[in-house]
Amino acid sequence: MSFKDKIIKDKLPVHIAIIMDGNGRWAAKQGKDRVFGHHHGVDAVRAASEAAAELGVKYLTLYAFSTENWNRPKFEVDALMTLFVETIQNEIETLNKNNIRLNAIGDLKSLPDDNYSKLMATLEETKKNDRMMLTLAMSYSSRWEITDAVNKILDDTKSGKINAGNISESQFSEYLNTSQMPDPELLIRTSGEMRISNFLLWQIAYTELFFTSKLWPEFTKEDLYEAIVDYQNRERRFGLTSEQIKS
Ligand code: IPE
Ligand code: IPE
Ligand code: MG
Repeated sequence: MSFKDKIIKDKLPVHIAIIMDGNGRWAAKQGKDRVFGHHHGVDAVRAASEAAAELGVKYLTLYAFSTENWNRPKFEVDALMTLFVETIQNEIETLNKNNIRLNAIGDLKSLPDDNYSKLMATLEETKKNDRMMLTLAMSYSSRWEITDAVNKILDDTKSGKINAGNISESQFSEYLNTSQMPDPELLIRTSGEMRISNFLLWQIAYTELFFTSKLWPEFTKEDLYEAIVDYQNRERRFGLTSEQIKS
């Protein structure tokens, strides 16, 4: 029996975020270089996006490249940037056919010019799609995002757009890259590492975490279904007691 059959349709997470980790280790296991792993990681991205859209998930956010990842060997960074451009361009047709909107978060201006302009063009070409928003976090880190938000708030305070000393949580959220989406209910990390690695720190305040030892290129639709079923079997209490939740 597939985990898919156990998914309760009306308890589906609206937003799922994934830390796609383990491409390098997966490649090493086959005696190949890390870039080989990244190429195979794209197949897993396709499978996860397809599975999420088919189920009716509204937002899927994938951690593709962190601000810290810029410090990897130049060869790997260059290969990843080329892979991003190629993949994004190759997928435009499929995204449109499946009514999926591509979105990106992170310090996008730090991407190579060619990447940035092709990414922006794809965002534009898919912007009317409304079945699911597929967000790629690229050159993203949560501390960068939060600091960027604070700087924008300071600018808006100086220009009189907002009142100083009176920022609410919801106003602060408006300044984050994720302002158009709800917080994720479920965060998945592959590869067995049990850490967040600077991803969506503000947004995951009450997110359910799911860790799997599968390496990202091995991650299948069935793994996504399993994570959703696990999530659906949890009691989300948000600080209340179990009795309060049940009544
Ligand atoms: C995740 O796989 C992809 C990126 C961070 C770009 P890794 O490249 O981190 O693979 P491991 O964790 O070294 O196996
Ligand atoms: C996190 O993976 C970033 C992405 C998946 C893009 P890393 O491999 O960079 O994280 P650490 O170094 O293991 O924390
Ligand atoms: Mg890693």
